[in-house]
Amino acid sequence: MTPALETRGLSIAFGGLKAVDAVSFSATRNKITTVIGPNGAGKTTLFNLISGGLRPASGTVMLDGRNVTGFGPAALQGSGLARSFQITNLFFELTVRENLGLAAQTLDPVINAFFPVGRRGRAADKVDELIERFGFAAKAHELVAALSHGEQRRLEIAMCLASEPQILMLDEPTQGMSHGDTEETARLIRSLSTEVTVLLIEHDIGLVMSLSDHVVVMHQGRKLSEGAPAEVRSDPAVQAAYFGHG
Ligand SMILES: Nc1ncnc2c1ncn2[C@@H]1O[C@H](COP(=O)(O)OP(=O)(O)OP(=O)(O)O)[C@@H](O)[C@H]1O
Ligand SMILES: [Mg+2]
Repeated sequence: MTPALETRGLSIAFGGLKAVDAVSFSATRNKITTVIGPNGAGKTTLFNLISGGLRPASGTVMLDGRNVTGFGPAALQGSGLARSFQITNLFFELTVRENLGLAAQTLDPVINAFFPVGRRGRAADKVDELIERFGFAAKAHELVAALSHGEQRRLEIAMCLASEPQILMLDEPTQGMSHGDTEETARLIRSLSTEVTVLLIEHDIGLVMSLSDHVVVMHQGRKLSEGAPAEVRSDPAVQAAYFGHG
């Protein structure tokens, strides 16, 4: 079966630093693939190369068997890719509903903008669905600035889903969250994998083990290991480089 996402020999250097060095891996459709590795391993840079924020010096990115190397973020979004950022990407002075409305507007044809009254497009239905599903019913009209950190991070995931992507990329979605929010977010991510292919960067190793179908380990820009969570955890090279013992 053609993987939902595949990279082959993906590389980029910043000055003399090989931030991502010949990384090849694939993500199976409707599975959760998690990229792990120590700080500075190249995980976010790998995400930037895949999602079009950076152009690779060499290597290819394939979406559903189609070569999309060098496509910009907008073209990739049109091809079904959505990503969240390690740093939050919300409009703080707008409400929850308004934020979701902006993210969902790609679902409606542009013509609807000229006949706003009496037309209820797919975007409005999608916003309602996401508010319900992500537990924002009571806070739909609150400003994003007034939400807790955990709620803001959860809203970011909802924003990514608003365009109905095929592939969802989440860079440390539970960063800075309380234990309870982390558990809730993990449950949400697990529930999403029935409809999208999830590509995750996550530091919480317990979460990685319980959530992932497949784990890719990066170290100093290179892919060190990959496999099922238990397989990767028992890999001596991973133990040495990542868990700090071996
Ligand atoms: N735009 C850039 N210019 C120069 N160096 C960069 C740039 N982006 C990243 N780097 C460097 O590339 C390396 C990989 O960084 P990256 O952010 O991909 O790591 P990471 O695995 O996501 O780390 P973390 O777990 O801390 O988020 C680091 O040494 C970083 O300093
Ligand atoms: Mg990072």
